[in-house]
Amino acid sequence: MATTTSRPTTRRAADDISYADLYERWERGNWSATEIDFTQDKIDWEERMTEAQRRTAMWLFSLFFHGEDAVTDGLSPYIDAAPLEEQKYFIATQQVDEARHSVFFNRFINEVVGLGDGSIAGGMNATASQLSWGHKMIFQELEEMCVALRADQSPHQFARAITIYHVLIEAALAQPGQHVIEAFLEEQDLMPGFRAGIANVALDEQRHIAFGVKALADLYDADPKGTEKAVLDVLRENSVYITGVAMPPNWDESYFKAFNYSYDELGRDGITALESRLRAIGIDLHKVERSPLPVDLPLDERASRGRVLLQANLVGPERPASRDPYATEVMFDSIARAADVHVVPSGTVIEWAFTDAEPWQLSFDAGKCIAERGTARKAALKLVVSFDDWADIFAKRVDARKLLLARKLRPKGNLRLFAKFGKIFP
Ligand SMILES: [Fe+2]
Ligand SMILES: [Fe+2]
Repeated sequence: MATTTSRPTTRRAADDISYADLYERWERGNWSATEIDFTQDKIDWEERMTEAQRRTAMWLFSLFFHGEDAVTDGLSPYIDAAPLEEQKYFIATQQVDEARHSVFFNRFINEVVGLGDGSIAGGMNATASQLSWGHKMIFQELEEMCVALRADQSPHQFARAITIYHVLIEAALAQPGQHVIEAFLEEQDLMPGFRAGIANVALDEQRHIAFGVKALADLYDADPKGTEKAVLDVLRENSVYITGVAMPPNWDESYFKAFNYSYDELGRDGITALESRLRAIGIDLHKVERSPLPVDLPLDERASRGRVLLQANLVGPERPASRDPYATEVMFDSIARAADVHVVPSGTVIEWAFTDAEPWQLSFDAGKCIAERGTARKAALKLVVSFDDWADIFAKRVDARKLLLARKLRPKGNLRLFAKFGKIFP
């Protein structure tokens, strides 16, 4: 690893964390998933909870159970890749925790809900139909990251791997979800066994997240630029999957209402958690180029944009896309924010000349890229394409080269500029 040259001068939250303390906290916090008593939980499940509450619980707990299983399986290459012995030991404790969490959720699903045969595989098979598109995608990404980390144990790859696991999955996704579940069951005084278990899971996750923040802060000290790039790249690659994890079946809002929360509330909690962990590492999104989160916008808007794109099928698995003007605006604003302005000469305009929707344009000027509705006065490049085909490209449902070959995407004008598209929108 490179020597430390530019340790941030301002004190970060990560500077208060030590690996020795995290290990000690693990020893003190040990608990037993097999000793939890679910007797009252079974009574509450059958007699006190409404059908809608049980449906939401089944859905959320299944997302957690499959997530816990995936993180249990995926952690071993992290032990190999960690540069410090203390890090290896902590990750070994974390792997035990994740196995315990999986056992806890499986016990609940089998003994209280009555699904599966008691084996982990049986529980997983019985709940697999509950998983959302975003859940499948993010855990597929995690699996690929683990394979990549086995092959490449460089600090850069380790930083990428910690970002998806500890920052995105644990801090931005799992922890806010656990708080929603805990708060609801507490308020309704339901299922004391499950509540005790999830409280322990949440304490464990807090420790895991602290470890991830500390490990990334160490990597940041050794190589601020490289680590920042690793972290931000992973956020850009995965933010839409994260947004889609808690997407309820058919966008049926009653899934949230049954637990007294809303999709956007969960989004706000996730974004707040994510931004605070990045600050703790030393990364200030207000100061980075091409920030993966539009930090200049109010929190409500930052949290709702992912939902807007998903509901319009401008991201996600389904087509056709909606022509909703606000959703289209969010899509083009996202494209503009992701553009690398250094690759394109100032004054360049690119137009999306949709064959079946109003045109949009991006203007590159004075180190900025701005999206606007309407036909460009002088576009260097025009993309002639149908709105749905473009939405498929934006959502990564189709490879743009395929549409190009089929002449469904026709670039007109400066084709050299078109050839640089991969660099402009990395
Ligand atoms: Fe866990
Ligand atoms: Fe964890």
